[in-house]
Amino acid sequence: MELDLLHDKFYKLYGKKEQSCHTFFAPGRVNLIGEHTDYNGGYVFPCALQYGTYLAVRLNGSDRMHFSTTNFDQPCSVPERGFSRQDTKWVNYPLGVMDQLVKRGFGMKGMDMLFSGDVPNAAGLSSSASIEMVTAVAMNELYDMHFDMIDLIKIGQKAENEFVGVNCGIMDQFASGMGKTEHAVYLDCATLDFEQVPLVLGDYKLMISNTNKRRGLADSKYNERRAECESSVEFIAMTEPVSLLGELSYARFLDLQHLIPDETVRRRAHHVVSENQRVLDAVKALRESDLVLFGQLMNASHDSLRDDYEVTGIELDTLTEEARKVEGVLGSRMTGAGFGGCTVSLVHKDAIARFITEVGSAYHAKTRLKPEFYLGEVSDGARKL
Ligand code: GLA
Repeated sequence: MELDLLHDKFYKLYGKKEQSCHTFFAPGRVNLIGEHTDYNGGYVFPCALQYGTYLAVRLNGSDRMHFSTTNFDQPCSVPERGFSRQDTKWVNYPLGVMDQLVKRGFGMKGMDMLFSGDVPNAAGLSSSASIEMVTAVAMNELYDMHFDMIDLIKIGQKAENEFVGVNCGIMDQFASGMGKTEHAVYLDCATLDFEQVPLVLGDYKLMISNTNKRRGLADSKYNERRAECESSVEFIAMTEPVSLLGELSYARFLDLQHLIPDETVRRRAHHVVSENQRVLDAVKALRESDLVLFGQLMNASHDSLRDDYEVTGIELDTLTEEARKVEGVLGSRMTGAGFGGCTVSLVHKDAIARFITEVGSAYHAKTRLKPEFYLGEVSDGARKL
């Protein structure tokens, strides 16, 4: 997004050019490995993308908060005090963050705000977390709140859980807040200990392929999986002091899995615990520059999400299957919650054109959907511009 263009639109919309606005950015993310582990106290390994949400904002001296976006024609004006959930859905993401800040004792004041997002819409690349994080970072600065980034990340997640009503884990907000260019974020979701690990891919690129499938049942299925994980822990906890699946090593889980009577629930837990081990192995492989092993772990992650966790579907499965057929592809997996959205593949730079043609036509032939392809560039986290 051209910042000049954003600023022109801002002043056209709100006037008073002499009162300048401040501009912030927060990225979306792609998760490399570690899917559906965050809410189980496990490991994740996402990185921040070049795509994200921009926000131009200033205090306006009134008692109204004005929200606009360049993405759709749905402006909204909300009183600075006593606000509640809006019918204009997109506004609930920034407003949820403000709600959290009010709960922590900060008063909001009248503001003019213009958001602008370039994360592909509904693609599972965390456009929502990027709106939350850009709002959190902007409010922190505008109101001199002195929260650190970890606090802002927790505020972003709570906004989504409590105000938007989506029971997500912390991965997306964390990647958006703590992303670093050329690095992936290795995060222990139980302790929030993290490390930014250099993402040295040599001649390989992160290719993101969008199924362009609407993620219809995603929220209800997401909650169903969370409940299945909790129920697996309840069975194990009758014998063993365990409160989250992330506490179990793979070997320990194999010893204890007979305690889970339901076969489906056992498979859900098996995915989580095996995926956790794959994150550890993948981070080690990356540190040792073993991209071939990294790619194999990506493949194994997808297969586990397909067979054990059952969150893929024909679109994501076709994209990964076709990707793996292309010479120069080291691995391919779904990324994010699943049920549509995107895959991420590790592709040699010389194979990119072929990848797009071959995967694109095979996918279209099978699903009648037109996929989209983006090269992921790993960027810095939420910040003032
Ligand atoms: C969504 C959620 C995350 C995480 C992933 C699955 O992106 O927002 O918290 O649970 O799904 O790994």
